[in-house]
Amino acid sequence: MPLYKLRIEAADLATGRPIADLLEAASTPPALAVALFELAPPTYVVEAYYDQSPSLDAIARLLDGLGAGLGGPVLEAVPDTNWVALSQAALPPISAGRFIVHGSHDRACFAMHRRAIEIEAGEAFGTGHNATTALCLEALSELVRTRRFAHVLDLGCGTAILAIAAARALPDARVLASDNDAIATAIGRDNARLNRVAQRVEIVTATGFAHARLRRAQPFDLVLANILPGPLIALAQQMRRALARSGVAVLSGLLDHQVREVVQTYRACGFRLLRCTRSGGWAALTLLNTRA
Ligand SMILES: C[S@@+](CC[C@H](N)C(=O)[O-])C[C@H]1O[C@@H](n2cnc3c(N)ncnc32)[C@H](O)[C@@H]1O
Repeated sequence: MPLYKLRIEAADLATGRPIADLLEAASTPPALAVALFELAPPTYVVEAYYDQSPSLDAIARLLDGLGAGLGGPVLEAVPDTNWVALSQAALPPISAGRFIVHGSHDRACFAMHRRAIEIEAGEAFGTGHNATTALCLEALSELVRTRRFAHVLDLGCGTAILAIAAARALPDARVLASDNDAIATAIGRDNARLNRVAQRVEIVTATGFAHARLRRAQPFDLVLANILPGPLIALAQQMRRALARSGVAVLSGLLDHQVREVVQTYRACGFRLLRCTRSGGWAALTLLNTRA
């Protein structure tokens, strides 16, 4: 398959993000993949891959109006190679809180690093490159500085990145992880083995709390849930019942303007907001269960 790479340098993240969003949404031709990553602070690079050559004029028109701080687009044909390997190699390691998340192509660099988590980009969500995941990793890092958790749930685990991070940060904790997508739970189990935490991370396929294993395992003292506001709001009462008193819920996957509704719903169920962190238009909430 022919492959073309479009590369655009941006002065900073605020300039790079709308370029990546526009290229991802554009359909002339549709991009196979779009990556945004830091080159050298504060410069960012957007790379988009295509199976048909896009027109540079059309790209220029698309980005017209984004203003200063944009390098000219550079288009090149990529030599015939393994596309999956290529897209994975395009993901640089990221650091979020106390964790570093990297792909197999960077394994040698982080082999001795206790806080490194290896996750391959694939069919399940959660390589750490999305702000919703990074905000959870940062919230977890912050929480374990002052609190101990023995019983953790990662609800909507995707690759199981948060469950693995919890197992790493809390060596005595039991971690349960769940997802309503059986492909994700299979990938999550592989990742738990790869990261040598499979003995402490159990993963089940379930929607919300609807699984006997999740009911039996309650109460949790920490729930990490990076799922969208709709399911988070629908699950608020069950979340409170699933948590011990003074247990903590970290909720992510919210856009800035969705925070208020989620906070109000959780307050009405007896949660107190400890922290709200934001990145790139996304927000994560750390909430304390004040009821028994
Ligand atoms: C945004 S991804 C988060 C993955 C990972 N936890 C992370 O932080 O990167 C959301 C995941 O939740 C799963 N999911 C969405 N709604 C769910 C629900 N009601 N119950 C269980 N899993 C759900 C999706 O299948 C998806 O894998």
